Amino acid sequence: MKEIKGVIAAEVAKVSGLDESVVIGMLEYPPNADMGDLALPCFKLAKSLRKSPAQIAEELAASLAKLNEIEEAAPSGGFLNIRLAKGAFAEHVVTKSINDVHGLFSSERGKGRTAVVDYSAPNIAKPFGVGHLRSTIIGQSIVRMMREDGFHVEGLNHLGDWGTQFGKNIAAYMRWGDEEKVRANPIRELFKLYVRFHEEAEKDPALEDEGRYWFKQLEEGNEEAIRLWKWFIEESLKAFKETYQLLGVEFDHYLGESFYTDKMDAVVNELREKGLLVEDDGAEVVDLSEYGMPPCLILKSDGTSIYPTRDLASAEYRHRVLGADTLVYVVGAEQKLHFQQVFKVLELMGRDYAKNCTHVAFGLMKFNGERLSTRRGHVVYLEDVLTKAIEEAAKIIEDKNPNLANKQEVARSVGVGAVIFNDLKTYRIHEVDFRYEDVLNFDGETGPYVQYTHARACSVLRKAETRETAWPAGYVPNEIEWGLIVQLSQADETLERAVDEYDPSVMARFILQVCHAFNRFYHNNPILQSDEPTRSARLALTDATRKVLAKALYLIGLDAPEEM
Ligand code: ARG
Repeated sequence: MKEIKGVIAAEVAKVSGLDESVVIGMLEYPPNADMGDLALPCFKLAKSLRKSPAQIAEELAASLAKLNEIEEAAPSGGFLNIRLAKGAFAEHVVTKSINDVHGLFSSERGKGRTAVVDYSAPNIAKPFGVGHLRSTIIGQSIVRMMREDGFHVEGLNHLGDWGTQFGKNIAAYMRWGDEEKVRANPIRELFKLYVRFHEEAEKDPALEDEGRYWFKQLEEGNEEAIRLWKWFIEESLKAFKETYQLLGVEFDHYLGESFYTDKMDAVVNELREKGLLVEDDGAEVVDLSEYGMPPCLILKSDGTSIYPTRDLASAEYRHRVLGADTLVYVVGAEQKLHFQQVFKVLELMGRDYAKNCTHVAFGLMKFNGERLSTRRGHVVYLEDVLTKAIEEAAKIIEDKNPNLANKQEVARSVGVGAVIFNDLKTYRIHEVDFRYEDVLNFDGETGPYVQYTHARACSVLRKAETRETAWPAGYVPNEIEWGLIVQLSQADETLERAVDEYDPSVMARFILQVCHAFNRFYHNNPILQSDEPTRSARLALTDATRKVLAKALYLIGLDAPEEM
């Protein structure tokens, strides 16, 4: 719709003297199709144009009616309702979807810009929890959508591999660890030790000192500490990478927090030189009271570094070495203050790019309505969730389509897709609840439903035995076909909005709309049995839909099996 909105806006701008982009922003989709395809709320223009809405609508109607792209422009109660010339628009949309390499998503606003997207970032020696799952799949989708929008994107995993926690891990392993057991089942075993550490520390606070001691040893390069820590990382990474593979998630960089150990002095020194560091109870902090925030802790009283300091050093690295002008952090909402502080300190250091730093927060994920806490060992293992989803998907496929080729691969796509879609269809800041029966329901607003719709389109095309589809010149779509075309045409704006809001749910909702419109079309309009030129038009529309769905599914991280 971007192009046609541009055409309309240019005309409105000419007549009214308003800015084209302002008019584009005002164009709305009417609540129901009988009112037209687009509407301009003229009452919003009344003040600046010093005319009544009705008069404005009359005048604009007359000049818009002259455009070839428009069939009718009718004033109605302060609005100008616009109907597009259906045949020409349908041909344009369908042809572009089928033939253009970018299809209907084409958008290149990010050209020449570089973004670093920080996502997933699980903590070593801890299970990959469902909180990190949200970051992983939202982040992966943002990476893909920004690339589609022309950005050069570096996807980065800021692994939690440094900090006091590792002192605790080492202390716990020294006390109760068993090498054999850890080797056999690293994450679960290390996590057990960690949980035990917290339990015992409640009775014996001296343990906390032991943890701090070992972290200090780690920062000072103690060989034994380093050896254990490296081993924990290696084992954890192996397990995380298996999960990423299952999810179809990739990173351009694994740069954990430990990577910045030798890059923090520069930041600390600069803060000191600029007079930004003040002492606070033995620690060194940046005072942010002027901005209504608690101080940002830079160095602890024992001189060891801390999470925010590493984030300052890593921001510098992303900007200077990776060339980022846009820094995106996909991290749970509970870290809101942390990022506000870090971004503020960057600004106080005089970094221009501070204004292009965004914390993309998201809500909690619950399991059957229950919150999870890793501290208390109440944890759902992501790999278990995925394995179970894949198994359930396999059962459903066995039931629905036992003769399907490569059933296992499809079950993986469907099971994993179900988990991903359940997450992404919700506005990211809201909480997500997870129930197997809901996420795998083929009839709900689910991953299987949208994948199945795509497979259905593929199946129609297979049966048609044509590879080449084309919209027959002069064919005017019926109402149901038109409804689908209007949905498809919104791909470009959907991408832009999803990128602007850093919210894959915008894309997921679009996918659902397209699927609803396609299924309505499929159930009400015979495709293969129709006469020409209807048959060709419907096949071309099916092909155009298939392309849009395949790309959109990819953008939110779902596979698009051709058969299921
Ligand atoms: N590992 C951290 C956690 O689990 C998330 C890190 C997010 N990224 C960052 N640059 N701070 O809480």
